[in-house]
Amino acid sequence: MITIITNIKELLQVRNNSVKKVSGKEMKILPTIKNAFLILKDDKIYDYGEMRNLPSLKADKTFDATGKIVLPTWCDSHTHIVYAGNRDGEFVDRINGLTYEEIANNGGGILNSAEKLQNSSKDDLFDQASKRLEEIMKLGTGAVEIKSGYGLTLEAEIKMLHVIKKLSEFYPIEIKATFLGAHAFPKKFKENKDDYVDLICNKMIPLVAKEKLAEFIDVFCETGYFSVEQTERILKAGNDYNLTPKIHVNQFTSIGGVQVGIKYNALSIDHLEIMTTQDIEDLKNSNTMPVALPSCSYFLSIPYTPARKIIDNDLPLALASDFNPGSTPSGNMNFVVSTACIKMKMTPEEAINAATINGAYAMNLSKTHGSITKGKKANLIITKPIPSYNYLPYAFGSNLIDKVMIEGEFIL
Ligand code: NIG
Ligand code: FE
Repeated sequence: MITIITNIKELLQVRNNSVKKVSGKEMKILPTIKNAFLILKDDKIYDYGEMRNLPSLKADKTFDATGKIVLPTWCDSHTHIVYAGNRDGEFVDRINGLTYEEIANNGGGILNSAEKLQNSSKDDLFDQASKRLEEIMKLGTGAVEIKSGYGLTLEAEIKMLHVIKKLSEFYPIEIKATFLGAHAFPKKFKENKDDYVDLICNKMIPLVAKEKLAEFIDVFCETGYFSVEQTERILKAGNDYNLTPKIHVNQFTSIGGVQVGIKYNALSIDHLEIMTTQDIEDLKNSNTMPVALPSCSYFLSIPYTPARKIIDNDLPLALASDFNPGSTPSGNMNFVVSTACIKMKMTPEEAINAATINGAYAMNLSKTHGSITKGKKANLIITKPIPSYNYLPYAFGSNLIDKVMIEGEFIL
């Protein structure tokens, strides 16, 4: 089946030779073709170029994109969209002066979501997560990572991962699963935290690996959550079962999470709101992708990841949503890209690179996603008529998306 898109005002992120990621100054370059055509064959990108070179080819479907911009779908490399209910009460508590940490210390936060999830059926969780997934697909996300981490018992963590697996079987969007048993210490392990780490290492990780339920492993390495030593034990155990680390570090404090991530060859280290000069230096000798989550900073009123410092030190940076019930109840990657420009001073080119090709890298998907390259997945955002691609971050809050194609099918 051949689909031809014609008269594209500007086709963004065109890379004849696919790159794995872009770093430093390269992030300022967003390769484009003006007045372009794009040809899709089944679920893949087949050809593209300037309209004057449009080959004569019999199309099964055509789409006239006059005035519209076309770009690859967003690659959201960090979400927690399988959860039960919501935490809108804590939102109001924060408005009234409590902090995210205070709420967690009072038994709210992640433990609040864990209790709700433990009491929910797989079908109920699937229905709730489906709605979120369908929403983000319509907002232009074409590949997504989803974490466990609201189970916190062997049974409930496996239940979450089964739901993620079912989502990936049911929807055309590429889904990567991450095991995050180390998201918080359950109440019953409050006084004997290392016993929970034992449970993760000796029971959960082997079962997750045996059932092939996750490709990645995550730990919330943070003051009051998992220490650097505990993180190291978990990553080591994960490594024995070929689970690649993608970890939460430096959200509130810099305690050595960056370094432990690098030591265990993490694919990504995420959050990074608090970064020391040493953290930046250490990242320079690694293949680890730093990932910023600006919607989380926005929602919790915490510092933004210092994107300028990271990129100006010649490092790469990816952007992701962190969609979850506590710190970021939104999976809108258009808002993420806008906020990165407005609050983190990333240029539109940097932000689009960060949310496409670098997001793909942070999910091990740069071979198939994140750019307009022959043979990659036919995953596209077609905008409404807009003056330039600067409009995507500039007109924050407007929905500028006309159509979304995932794996060759228009889902919107
Ligand atoms: O990435 N920081 C840890 N985990 C999530 C929030 C989890 C929650 O509050 O439910 C995050 O922000
Ligand atoms: Fe997160």
